[in-house]
Amino acid sequence: MQFFRLLKYAGKYKKYLILCPIVMIGEVVMEMLLPTITANLIDKVIPESAASGNITRVLLYGGLMLLMALVSMGFGMAGSRLSALGGMGFSRNLRQAIFEKVQKYSFKNIDKFSTASLVTRLTTDVNQTQNVVMMLVRMAVRSPLMMVMAIIMAFRMNSSLMPILLVTVPILLLAIVVIMSKAFPRFQIMMKKYDALNASVQENLIAIRVVKAFVRASHEKEKFEASADDVTATQRAAERVVIWNGPIMQILMNGSIIALLWLGGGQIIGGSMQLGALSSFIQYVLQILMSLMMLSFLFVSFVLARASVTRICEVLDEEPEIESPENAETEVEDGSIVFENVGFSYSGDASNLVLEDASFAIRSGETIGVIGGTGSAKTTLVSLIPRLYDVTCGKILVGGKDVRDYDIHALRNQVAMVLQKNVLFSGSIKDNLRWGNENATDEEIVAACQASAAHEFVQSFPGGYDMDLGQGGVNVSGGQKQRLCIARALLKKPKIIIFDDATSAVDTATDARIREALRKHMPETTKIIIAQRITSVMDADRIMVLNDGRIMDFGTHDELMQRSTIYKEVFTSQQKGVA
Ligand SMILES: Nc1ncnc2c1ncn2[C@@H]1O[C@H](COP(=O)(O)OP(=O)(O)O)[C@@H](O)[C@H]1O
Ligand SMILES: [Mg+2]
Repeated sequence: MQFFRLLKYAGKYKKYLILCPIVMIGEVVMEMLLPTITANLIDKVIPESAASGNITRVLLYGGLMLLMALVSMGFGMAGSRLSALGGMGFSRNLRQAIFEKVQKYSFKNIDKFSTASLVTRLTTDVNQTQNVVMMLVRMAVRSPLMMVMAIIMAFRMNSSLMPILLVTVPILLLAIVVIMSKAFPRFQIMMKKYDALNASVQENLIAIRVVKAFVRASHEKEKFEASADDVTATQRAAERVVIWNGPIMQILMNGSIIALLWLGGGQIIGGSMQLGALSSFIQYVLQILMSLMMLSFLFVSFVLARASVTRICEVLDEEPEIESPENAETEVEDGSIVFENVGFSYSGDASNLVLEDASFAIRSGETIGVIGGTGSAKTTLVSLIPRLYDVTCGKILVGGKDVRDYDIHALRNQVAMVLQKNVLFSGSIKDNLRWGNENATDEEIVAACQASAAHEFVQSFPGGYDMDLGQGGVNVSGGQKQRLCIARALLKKPKIIIFDDATSAVDTATDARIREALRKHMPETTKIIIAQRITSVMDADRIMVLNDGRIMDFGTHDELMQRSTIYKEVFTSQQKGVA
């Protein structure tokens, strides 16, 4: 079963998970001996001491019982501690494993799961599983052992009263089965609704700025309320059934006590049983019922956690879409790029291509502009170069070799990409820039920032390069963020650098300054610049015009002005805007 497969993640914490049930055995043994000793005390020691007038043995017995109770408590505490240590260690390792797996995911794998659901799996689902593990190590040995031992002890004490169990146990089992079979489906519905709630909360918090900007807060609040009410309602429905557990258990326990007192009382009067024996017999019976109850709880939480376990296994079992081949190439010769009849579809369906039949060659060191409307597959086309996605058909050569033949890290180190959706991380500016190159010196960092026109504003910040950026880089403006992201990519000193609309939030003059600096800073590097403004690309060596997933034209600004109607139209309309 999937659950037991996950147990291997206990790793070095396994010893706690094994030790815990063993310690629990100690607790059970103590709990089993106590009622027998009590019986002995009441039935033998006290009457004898009363006759002789010497209470030393009574005190000794009392002391022994106190000691046993303390030992039992010690075992119980040790068991709880061990289960906590093991359970938390287990969930720590499991989280780590999930996190590492997700790091290996390709963009396509991530598209499949959504960030919100990955977060839920890493947190809630791991917690659920951890709880079951902790419960399992505490109960799985303890409860059955307690039940068997209590039955044996009770039987030895007075076998004639045992038939009472033949009445109560089946009733209890029946009640448990009925309650659980009714509650089960309801709990499962509840968990699903809970998932939906979690997903909606996370999505909302990630996009909280957008929600506020669009004044959608009250709408989102209503949506959340409805979702929360839904969870409450299903939870109530489930609890309405489970709530029967308590009364039924009480009735059975108290009923057993009454029956035992009645029947046992008769035996005491008849002289075939003693008072102490009856009182401890009652305790054994209660222990039997309790352990049955515990076992049923264990079973329920086990099955309830099944959904979480399945969801965790889904993440762990997902095959990373893109991996380095064996005997991978580790050296990227130069920054040349060749597309041969490349087609791409996000669904992998060759009949529904987002990018169609792209063929072209770019020489190392060229500056290429890419122009096209939104959704014309500009981002898609460039994503294929560092192998963020794999082509659906055709092939791509970088430095003369198929991108699929490279070691994936070697390739991505040489193909830097400044994404359209930029992300910076919490930490200082310097830390963020060193993502590009861990060993970059301060001078290199300043040089990169000068090239990306970031040096001036960074210097004006309190703390300069050491200023903290806040989560997701909230402390800088959109244009500043873009310039820092460019600097980060420059520090990699790649053979190919791709700017996906990376200066959209930067003013035209600064944009021109950055392009000029790039030309000087990295003349050998192939530069691909996706832009909305033709002015951003018109001085490029060549410009690619994309429309609806097809390359319409590819040439210099002057050539395109002569032969490409789309290009000419866009150019004149943008010039008009300027005028
Ligand atoms: N992760 C994705 N999954 C599915 N479809 C996508 C994904 N990203 C983009 N698309 C689709 O691919 C097409 C091209 O998108 P894109 O390359 O981002 O265009 P551009 O960058 O030119 O605006 C669009 O129709 C878009 O809806
Ligand atoms: Mg895009």
